Amino acid sequence: MLRGMNSPRQHPGQAPPAIEALGLRKAYGAKVVLDGIDLRVPRGTIFSLLGPNGAGKTTTVQILSTLIRADAGTARIAGHDVVAEPQSVRAAIGVTGQFSAVDNLITGEENMALMADLHHLDRREGRRVTAELLERFDLVDAAKKPAATYSGGMRRRLDLAMTLVGSPEVIFLDEPTTGLDPRARHAVWQIIRELVDGGVTVFLTTQYLEEADQLADRIAVLTDGRIVAEGTADELKRLVPGGHVRLRFLDPAELARAAEVLGVGLRDDEALTLQVPGDGSVHTLRALLDALDGARVAVDSLTMHTPDLDDVFFAVTGRPEHEKVRTR
Ligand SMILES: Nc1ncnc2c1ncn2[C@@H]1O[C@H](COP(=O)(O)OP(=O)(O)O)[C@@H](O)[C@H]1O
Ligand SMILES: [Mg+2]
Repeated sequence: MLRGMNSPRQHPGQAPPAIEALGLRKAYGAKVVLDGIDLRVPRGTIFSLLGPNGAGKTTTVQILSTLIRADAGTARIAGHDVVAEPQSVRAAIGVTGQFSAVDNLITGEENMALMADLHHLDRREGRRVTAELLERFDLVDAAKKPAATYSGGMRRRLDLAMTLVGSPEVIFLDEPTTGLDPRARHAVWQIIRELVDGGVTVFLTTQYLEEADQLADRIAVLTDGRIVAEGTADELKRLVPGGHVRLRFLDPAELARAAEVLGVGLRDDEALTLQVPGDGSVHTLRALLDALDGARVAVDSLTMHTPDLDDVFFAVTGRPEHEKVRTR
């Protein structure tokens, strides 16, 4: 490789990032879908665009994969401009959409062969790649059956296998696990991890906080066409108030004594609970219980809460994650 010599913005000796976008805008009529999106995804990493239905995730993927054009802004994939060099971009990417590209009427193997033809692999190479991918995605037994007979998880795996026929450097996965049961979802997660271990860059859209938390090196929260927060899962979690421990007491007198001993916390006289700050570590918890023990205050029960991406989502978008999922 020419080590980025063709791109003056790069430091010498450094390949361009897998994805770089600046100021992407897109509107349909009066409806602004993307309102200035910046993205930078280093090679060999998983980047997650997290957002509720209608946030603009698919629109972003469509722009980055050259399917549609932005009204404004620029995007480069593996160093190639999506508008000026769409063919080079297409050669470098694989896209698995929210809705499967699998043809249900033919077998898994035939679907794969079709992809091999599309990528101009010769017969022999096509067969080799197909066999290898069917094996890797645990589809050997199903290979000769019509895709219509596949479960959701199998279809998704076939879809991913088809995306990989062209050996893409950058893979766009648009909600790859929406509608899958937990077991199939975990299987897809495992595949995504293996892809990245193999050096591929993954751009993953999801509406599941847990998915982004599990997989992504970096997460951008997209809502109403804007990125409202970006960082690692840990960085995002630090945006919200810390964790807490909620102590429950059997009677108001114990609660009152605990509040006095600890000197901090949110007191609920009706629920007989006291909520005190705490990071959930054994050390903090022990110190807390020792203090209460020392004052002979009896605690009935306790629960711990560490901030998760759900809290982050609520903090940056003003609505809880479960609410947005339920609206669909
Ligand atoms: N071709 C289109 N014409 C008109 N509106 C569109 C079109 N594509 C998307 N939209 C609108 O843009 C918004 C974002 O859509 P989309 O990018 O599909 O969101 P997401 O993938 O995050 O659910 C939605 O309000 C959607 O209705
Ligand atoms: Mg979508």
